[in-house]
Amino acid sequence: MTGANAGIGYETARALAGAGAQVVVAARRDSAGRDAAARIAASTGSPHVSHVLLDLADLESVARAATDWSGPLHILVANAGIMTVPELTRTGPGHELQFATNYLGHFAVATGLRPALAAAGGARIVCLSSSAHLHSPVVFGDLDFRFRPYDPRQAYAASKTAMVMLAVEATRRWAGDGIHANAVNPGAIATGLQKYTGGPQTPVERRRERPPRCS
Ligand SMILES: NC(=O)c1ccc[n+]([C@@H]2O[C@H](COP(=O)([O-])OP(=O)(O)OC[C@H]3O[C@@H](n4cnc5c(N)ncnc54)[C@H](OP(=O)(O)O)[C@@H]3O)[C@@H](O)[C@H]2O)c1
Repeated sequence: MTGANAGIGYETARALAGAGAQVVVAARRDSAGRDAAARIAASTGSPHVSHVLLDLADLESVARAATDWSGPLHILVANAGIMTVPELTRTGPGHELQFATNYLGHFAVATGLRPALAAAGGARIVCLSSSAHLHSPVVFGDLDFRFRPYDPRQAYAASKTAMVMLAVEATRRWAGDGIHANAVNPGAIATGLQKYTGGPQTPVERRRERPPRCS
């Protein structure tokens, strides 16, 4: 479970642990992962909660986490995310930070852990998307905003569209290994995700903010 130290990921991990699942909290900050795992274990009474270090924006960190994994993986929840980072920010290899974190990191996690998912014999991948995916396709000609002005909302939207495509394509390619993926829109929930926007928006608020159409 990526991003399981906060928000939706934390509550999902807690629910799964409470239902008897062995849960691995993947977090980019070691202390946050350890603390979340301890809180989940304490609140559910589960002795099967651990944590690993995983920074989705750092593909070397992702590769390390995948290499260190042992045994079958029954459910991968690709949950971690960031939204509407105000300034254009790129990772070391030059990818726009929201696309890199929300999608490229999860793509690398899923492909790196594919053998473990296949070994589970009927694994599931859950890709966290958003209704924001309706606002941008994946702009293959300019993934990193090199040829158009940076738009924080478009960058988030494209990353969430990519997560839907990951679910569709992972199922198409890996169903033979018993792996099935679905994308989920969790709805508007007040979490740390909205730190740059000032709170979750309802669909009505989003419609009000959209610029009027000109014919
Ligand atoms: N909340 C909503 O209304 C809403 C609506 C639609 C979709 N979603 C989706 O739901 C998912 C969870 O969002 P949330 O609302 O629970 O947000 P959140 O409370 O801000 O939690 C985001 C999690 O992602 C982690 N994260 C961020 N960057 C990371 C990186 N580079 N590597 C690893 N982990 C990283 C954060 O870790 P740190 O604590 O270290 O920052 C945190 O654990 C996201 O994919 C989001 O797009 C949420």
